[in-house]
Amino acid sequence: MTFAAKTDVGVLISGSGTNLQALIDAAADATFPARLAVVISNRSRAYGLERAQMAGIPTEVLSHRRFDDREAYDAALVEVLREHEVQWVCLAGFMRLVTPVFLDAFPQRVLNIHPALLPAFPGLHAQRQALEYGVAISGATVHLVDRGTDTGPVVAQAAVPVLPDDDEDALKARILRQEHRLYPMVLRWAVEGRLQVEGRRVTVDLPEGEQRFLFAPEP
Ligand code: GRF
Repeated sequence: MTFAAKTDVGVLISGSGTNLQALIDAAADATFPARLAVVISNRSRAYGLERAQMAGIPTEVLSHRRFDDREAYDAALVEVLREHEVQWVCLAGFMRLVTPVFLDAFPQRVLNIHPALLPAFPGLHAQRQALEYGVAISGATVHLVDRGTDTGPVVAQAAVPVLPDDDEDALKARILRQEHRLYPMVLRWAVEGRLQVEGRRVTVDLPEGEQRFLFAPEP
């Protein structure tokens, strides 16, 4: 059996890389339409780099400390991604805001995953924010990246319950399990050209049996 050429994707990380691992696992399937062409971290100690190396994916460490400003850093990121002929970029726990220098190089082709149901709880410590606010449901969002912090058009979301005994770690873990389902599914749609964006609204030409929402199993 032959398969269509795969789309090269770059993944940007800063830490543990469990979402990266979910993408690596998905991409190991011969029918997955994306190939992870490069993993870039701004931190040399990010465990995600080891995950990439174990999967045979080229890695680069690009420390933001070596650059004068965000634009210079983003220009360097773009250069590495271009060297690897990347068509789409996934931010997966990449703890940096990106500038127009980066976004203009990959217009409407940068995805991010955030551990809350946006527009609730953008920014850092989303799970702690959800607990402190007292919501009964939280979750994860995959969105296209724009110039704001977690403000880009929503592609898909996964909902999880917030349980009475939850602490931050318990909620994090419950959300992460759904993140790992959600991100590979959305990346597949993205590289298959199934996303259409009009203003804030994303329309997905959904494969049979798939939806823009996931729910965690009942507790
Ligand atoms: C995830 O919760 C993701 O939603 C957020 O950063 C975290 C990264 O975790 N953007 P990991 O490095 O993928 O394990």
